[in-house]
Amino acid sequence: MIELQDLSFTYPYGKSVFNDLNFSLKRGKRIGLVGPNGAGKTTLFHLIVGLLKPDSGEVRILGKRRKDEEDFIEVRQRIGLLFQDSDDQLFSPTVEEDIAFGPLNLGKTHEQARLVVQKTCEILGLKGFEKKVTYRLSGGEKRLVALATVVAMDPECFLLDEPTAGLDEATRGRFLKYLKGHADTYIIISHDRELLKEATDKLYRLNDGKITPV
Ligand SMILES: Nc1ncnc2c1ncn2[C@@H]1O[C@H](COP(=O)(O)OP(=O)(O)O)[C@@H](O)[C@H]1O
Ligand SMILES: [Mg+2]
Repeated sequence: MIELQDLSFTYPYGKSVFNDLNFSLKRGKRIGLVGPNGAGKTTLFHLIVGLLKPDSGEVRILGKRRKDEEDFIEVRQRIGLLFQDSDDQLFSPTVEEDIAFGPLNLGKTHEQARLVVQKTCEILGLKGFEKKVTYRLSGGEKRLVALATVVAMDPECFLLDEPTAGLDEATRGRFLKYLKGHADTYIIISHDRELLKEATDKLYRLNDGKITPV
């Protein structure tokens, strides 16, 4: 599903984050990624979906080399990224518009999108939130709505960047239940060891620009 070959990346005016990184994720794998703050975990996700472009090396996603901006349109439709910061994910006035945005963008009709919003809100315990104003939600509520926008795309693979940060126990439980029941390929970046234990089969560590099994 995801293959990174000899990937190198340095932020402009920044330090080198990756130098010849090799990493792959096969369909059906559910893995956790840990590593110290600033190790490059978020950067890795942004390289996979093309928000950042590598200085050298290859990004192969869903069997194809992805290089130019057009190559990543399909990637972002089929690989769902939950941003570390919910405010990067949410930009519509209301919750239902935010959740409907992805499905509409995928070519669904308004009626189909409405049904997706309804179903997604049911699964994630967001019923009654549809008409709420997104920017007035609490941090935990925003996290759940951000997740809902990803879930509504029905992606083949999830990239979840610290998904449970700021969630209360009940919400975290609903999130975990969703993952276990509905998602089969994902990478979770998290410091939440319990979540990683319950929701992933294998753990990797990113440190010094290298990814190694834990
Ligand atoms: N836009 C940016 N410009 C320059 N440096 C950045 C930028 N974003 C992140 N960095 C740096 O790149 C490194 C990796 O950051 P990040 O991927 O956010 O780490 P993590 O998610 O593992 O905490 C850090 O040293 C961070 O300061
Ligand atoms: Mg991060």
